Amino acid sequence: MAISHAHATLFSRTSLFLSRNSSRSSLAFCIPFSTSAASSSLPSDKLHRNKWRSPVASVLELGGVKIGREDVMRDDPTNNVPDTIFSKLGMQLHRRDQHPIGILKNAIYEYFDTSYPNKFDKFDDLCPIVTVKQNFDDVLVPADHVSRSYNDTYYIDAQSVLRCHTSAHQAELLRRGHTHFLVTGDVYRRDSIDSTHYPVFHQMEGVRVFSPDDWEASGVDATSYAAEDLKKCLEGLANHLFGAVEMRWIDTYFPFTNPSFELEIYFQEKWLEVLGCGVTEQEILKRSGKTNNVAWAFGLGLERLAMVLFDIPDIRLFWSNDERFTSQFSKGQLGIKFKPFSKYPPCYKDISFWIKNHSLKTTYVKL
Ligand code: DAH
Repeated sequence: MAISHAHATLFSRTSLFLSRNSSRSSLAFCIPFSTSAASSSLPSDKLHRNKWRSPVASVLELGGVKIGREDVMRDDPTNNVPDTIFSKLGMQLHRRDQHPIGILKNAIYEYFDTSYPNKFDKFDDLCPIVTVKQNFDDVLVPADHVSRSYNDTYYIDAQSVLRCHTSAHQAELLRRGHTHFLVTGDVYRRDSIDSTHYPVFHQMEGVRVFSPDDWEASGVDATSYAAEDLKKCLEGLANHLFGAVEMRWIDTYFPFTNPSFELEIYFQEKWLEVLGCGVTEQEILKRSGKTNNVAWAFGLGLERLAMVLFDIPDIRLFWSNDERFTSQFSKGQLGIKFKPFSKYPPCYKDISFWIKNHSLKTTYVKL
């Protein structure tokens, strides 16, 4: 099946952290409660007190921490988290083995477990509420970067946000001594909703740290060694997920890596951006107490890849509880193709018909 226009739009959406992202950068206002994000376009006090909204759980357990509704939707002038977003916290689609996002996460785990047995530590339950420092400063996002604006990020108060990328956990895990790790989680960005955009989606971050022993024997410098290893690892991952596809590397910019790259694959007659990655900025390693090391990192959007791998035409379907969606996927089955269903609810009809021996039979059929 050819990739639909909707897919192409999603794939051309560049990372919030890419310098190529000129259209977003031109909207770099720091205006709380801007009207541009559809799901959050009302002043927060109206959203908070809207009695017609369906009730949502008021206490969640996230990463072992109990979070109350009032912890996320504070009476704080900087708070721009609406009910609709609070209700997504704790859904953790990436931890459901029968959900396309969970199936994809597990397929990526499988690749790392096979290629690097017992090497990568996996985190998929880290709390999505992080400090501004974790989300931005620790990964060297400049003070005036567009991604910090109230227009783009959900602020709980001036110091804490809903993470807008899984890179928010990089520095903390490096400081805790992890040298090989994968972080999967829900991430939040204020965005208008359509078939390819949703203000909550899922990312996986990967980091690998090398020590001098690793590169010294190779005869190449530390940065080239890490970059080469990174490309080999991610090309293997792309083959694992997509089969034998053509690939290309695009030089790009991220605040946290240098050099930085994007991997694209030629799939279903289009170049598809798979992930962003690069060699970790030395400053990040230095601040984590790793002055003699070099590292690589990558980040990928799970929805973007799942939409292609499972033929899912609308990003909103991932949030569906409709059995006609959820029953189509099974644990460990990456190859399943989504079969569209009516936008109307299932309707049970009572049908009567004659069979050979002329007795009347009644059956219920789902239409
Ligand atoms: N954090 C980036 C984003 O959300 C993705 C990313 C790019 C993560 C490059 C990385 C990286 O670790 O090296 O757009």
